[in-house]
Amino acid sequence: MYNEIDLDQIDIHAGPPTEEPARQYYFMAKCREWVRDFEQKNGRSPKACVVNMGCQMNARDSEKLLGILRLIGYQQTESEKADFVIYNTCTVRENANNKVYGRLGYLNVYKKQNPQMKIALCGCMMQEPQVVEKLKKSYRFVDLIFGTHNIYKFAELFAAVLETQDRIIDIWKDTEDIVEDLPIQRKYNFKSGINIMFGCNNFCSYCIVPYVRGRERSRRPEDIIREARRLAADGVVEVMLLGQNVNSYGKNLPEPVSFANLLREIEKVEGIERIRFMTSHPKDLSQELIDVMAASKKICRHLHLPLQSGSTRILREMNRRYTKEEYLALVERLRAAIPDIALTTDIIVGFPGETEEDFTDTLDVVRKVGFDSAFTFIYSKRTGTPAAVMENQVPEEIIKTRFDKLLREVQQIATEKAQKLTGQIQTVLVEEVNEQDPALVTGRLSNNSVVHIPGDASFIGRLVDVTLEECKGFYYYGKPIGTA
Ligand code: 5AD
Ligand code: SF4
Repeated sequence: MYNEIDLDQIDIHAGPPTEEPARQYYFMAKCREWVRDFEQKNGRSPKACVVNMGCQMNARDSEKLLGILRLIGYQQTESEKADFVIYNTCTVRENANNKVYGRLGYLNVYKKQNPQMKIALCGCMMQEPQVVEKLKKSYRFVDLIFGTHNIYKFAELFAAVLETQDRIIDIWKDTEDIVEDLPIQRKYNFKSGINIMFGCNNFCSYCIVPYVRGRERSRRPEDIIREARRLAADGVVEVMLLGQNVNSYGKNLPEPVSFANLLREIEKVEGIERIRFMTSHPKDLSQELIDVMAASKKICRHLHLPLQSGSTRILREMNRRYTKEEYLALVERLRAAIPDIALTTDIIVGFPGETEEDFTDTLDVVRKVGFDSAFTFIYSKRTGTPAAVMENQVPEEIIKTRFDKLLREVQQIATEKAQKLTGQIQTVLVEEVNEQDPALVTGRLSNNSVVHIPGDASFIGRLVDVTLEECKGFYYYGKPIGTA
């Protein structure tokens, strides 16, 4: 398997191959030599810390970076006082950017204490030209800067840093490439993300993602299935299919495939017991998909369906391409087909021009749908997006008041919703030993609710049937009745 490639078999004295992923394995072998040198000089392996600052796609990318680092001989650490630190950044909202600059200050101090330390920055924030300019000028101690499109070249870029001991900056505007079969270091043994597509073509007017992640590109279904089979063989029981807009999966492939059909194929993979996916765009959610979900034994009873706003006028300004009524009708169709489905959402408060009436529409949808949980965001102005230059930006105090009101509403509804399964028998996938009480383990139901049950570390990764005895706010206490 690709994770078990023996780097020592690669001749690093010949030139690098041109084809991928062989080229990257060649550079991994070169980095391995450097690591051996480090080990001899220091009497220990070098340590690497990869900090994941963004969404699930970002987390999956971090696993890819860790996979390469582990193969070349780095030991993983959570501490940023390491020999190599990578910040895998996010730029969806402005405050994420500010945090990075703040944390870099600390890293500079660590680097002064450990001069052989290397620092890299990657991820969405690096795709913004003004960010890279600022880093170039004021953060000279950063050794490597790369973006989202060339992440597969990490080994090659890192080898260049080690060889030249110079700063390397490589950002691509876009790419057509999808490189398969690079190493990966999964955070969990029993569950895994699978990228099914990259980029986004939607251009919601507030969102920077299409600019930093590029156009939609889908992986070939056979590559995705192969990965799912490989993961199942490796003990994975739950997969999360990842894309900015999974409902438009496969539309641009040479032989188009629908997302619903991809799900049908993944359902057939033996060993995979649960299938999740994110994120769905309401405008692309087909009846075919609803039917596949309803008929499936493996697709989880949970859908994350970003609403963003409940006002048709604001939705139009956001370029979301659905109305309040269409969203509500979609929810009705989903509930009719899958009565026990949990619905979660994302909502932005304070989009330019949002009036009290628009906000009331958002509250109205929140109440009518009754989301099981909702991520609420204060609108953040992202340079380069159409919304950033819209007039009528909403004053901060008004946004704050609306945000607090929305949050209260969302939490109250979520608490009511959380009670509804009390007394039922459901299956929990156990994820970890409870941090507060080591006599308990914690897992999730198909609908994503959190459940604590008595157990120990040997339960991790197992599907356990439990009676949900009691609901405490947002989680349940359960009692196992047997192992599924
Ligand atoms: N301001 C606030 N929230 C945003 N999101 C995306 N862009 C912005 C922005 N400029 C939110 C959306 C999206 C989630 C991932 O982040 O709600 O669904
Ligand atoms: Fe951004 Fe809209 Fe694409 Fe989601 S669908 S990533 S909100 S542009």
